Amino acid sequence: MTSPDRPQQPTDLPVTAAAAAAARTTGRAGNPTERFATRTGGMTASEIRALFAVASRPEVVSLAGGMPNLAALPLQSLSGEVAELVAQDGLTALQYGSAQGVPELREQICDVMAEEGVEGDPNDVVVTVGSQMALDLLTRIFVDPGDVVIAEGPSYVGALGSFAAYQARVVHVAMDEHGLVPELLTDALRSLAAQGITPKFLYTIPNFHNPAGVTLSIERRPRILDICREYGVMVVEDNPYGLLGFSGEVYPSLRSYDSDVIYLGSFSKTFASGLRVGWALVPPLVRDRLVLAAESATLCPPSFTQMLVSRYLAHHDWRSQVKTFTENYRERRDAMLAALETYLPEGCSWNVPDGGFFVWLTVPEGVDTKAMLPRAVTARVAYASGTGFYADGFGSRQLRLSFCYPTPERITEGVRRLAAVLEAELDVVRTFGTSARSELGRGPQSPSPDTN
Ligand SMILES: Cc1ncc(COP(=O)(O)O)c(C=O)c1O
Repeated sequence: MTSPDRPQQPTDLPVTAAAAAAARTTGRAGNPTERFATRTGGMTASEIRALFAVASRPEVVSLAGGMPNLAALPLQSLSGEVAELVAQDGLTALQYGSAQGVPELREQICDVMAEEGVEGDPNDVVVTVGSQMALDLLTRIFVDPGDVVIAEGPSYVGALGSFAAYQARVVHVAMDEHGLVPELLTDALRSLAAQGITPKFLYTIPNFHNPAGVTLSIERRPRILDICREYGVMVVEDNPYGLLGFSGEVYPSLRSYDSDVIYLGSFSKTFASGLRVGWALVPPLVRDRLVLAAESATLCPPSFTQMLVSRYLAHHDWRSQVKTFTENYRERRDAMLAALETYLPEGCSWNVPDGGFFVWLTVPEGVDTKAMLPRAVTARVAYASGTGFYADGFGSRQLRLSFCYPTPERITEGVRRLAAVLEAELDVVRTFGTSARSELGRGPQSPSPDTN
């Protein structure tokens, strides 16, 4: 009911005129979508999610998702750990815990990072609900709307989603087969400095990049850090795939050269993604603010999953489990590379990843990978088109293929189907000069298990 002598809301509340008019005429709160915060306008669902109903049918080979292949996990002994955890430590595991994370796990996390040469202090580790949450929190505490963040081009879709959610401006710097190109990073920072802009941070994935599959060479690592130091730019190193190298070589992390680097890690790819346990190793000056942000997001990370990970690390040969995962992924990578070589039409090019989950493919000129996606799904193969991995609409000639989840046979079949779709697209290009362009919006999309 409206009352003539009582205003419905103070005039300084950010309610749109249309919503207020709707409330007056209907006597109800109006359309809630008109009340979304402006910053949420940058959030869009992933393309593949829009096609999910079709893409998730069993007959479709999905080369789109970044889901780890968990079949090699020792489920029997893990179920014993779960039972023991409840029986022996249930009252702690089922209770709220520290906002920073379980102390014992933070110590073990330092042992895991030591594999990559990192000397971390457990006091500087903040456990998060997957490293995705660490990304979100770091962006929350560092980025004001309009601030610049530097990221490789292409970059991880979930990071771009967080940057968009906090209204960062992303400046991409290109990679080559040795990773981020130092000269191009210098050019970008010099040009920003000339405009009086210091980026808030460089966000980089040095190992087995998602989506590009490349690894930053050893020679470039100190150079990238020197350049950032020269321009006063903080470095955020996101490293979920670092231990998943196919040659057995473990690269020293950027954090191992410089304790000011913020390091993000995760158990999603080396153990189990569904447990949602990741972390950030941060300089002490950042830690307290990050913990406060974490507290306001979740109060504390789940005690149960942290304690399960802790038991797993203590009681299982996790290094040999990682080796088993990597052998599995290498076999799948080989199947994908062989199929690409056999089936893809001329004019396509791709990289040879030495670890991780992804191959990055460039298709011939005229083909638009985003426009092609519905036709690929109709032909029973799905991929992630390149545009989702750029904040600026680039990437329509690229796509990401993941080899982590399907069997080698399914990968071969998926690539064979993709090749047929590409051939058909190229026929159209030869006739009309270009394949149909996508009408869908470009730019970052929200992360999801089907395209992360
Ligand atoms: C580069 C990168 N960073 C972060 C994440 C998020 O991982 P999680 O939140 O599962 O730890 C992913 C997941 O695919 C990723 O590829």
